[in-house]
Amino acid sequence: MDVRLYTDNTVCHKFKDFYDEFYGGKTGLTFLDIGCGEGPFSKYIEERKNRVVAVDIINELPCTECLMSIRADIFEVDFVPNSFDCVIDNCCLQLFPLDKVVELIQKAKGQGMAKARGQILL
Ligand SMILES: C[S@@+](CC[C@H](N)C(=O)[O-])C[C@H]1O[C@@H](n2cnc3c(N)ncnc32)[C@H](O)[C@@H]1O
Repeated sequence: MDVRLYTDNTVCHKFKDFYDEFYGGKTGLTFLDIGCGEGPFSKYIEERKNRVVAVDIINELPCTECLMSIRADIFEVDFVPNSFDCVIDNCCLQLFPLDKVVELIQKAKGQGMAKARGQILL
């Protein structure tokens, strides 16, 4: 599993580069977008024919064939282990205290939200 924790909004600035590098041209993958907001990344993923579960405590996006929107606190939702090829968080993590960040990483990795060969970009 590839886990990358950025503290400088790199995911925000580079997400499309990451996506294109790792997933460009691939389909049939499943992503989790934590704190999706208005969904810039979820929409980017969806447009490329991959599935995305977009979780946000406030925002809800229109659900489509490839996009499932869940309005919820990410700490309150549980997913079936090994659900996601990639877990991304863009500018949501920075809102939490350190102990919650650790909890989220453990949830993404330790509790198996991401597949064993998946990627976590926070
Ligand atoms: C700075 S915005 C980033 C939005 C989006 N990722 C983007 O790149 O445009 C942070 C988002 O995190 C969401 N958020 C904050 N705490 C959350 C939580 N506990 N669970 C789920 N979403 C949360 C907020 O509602 C907000 O939409």
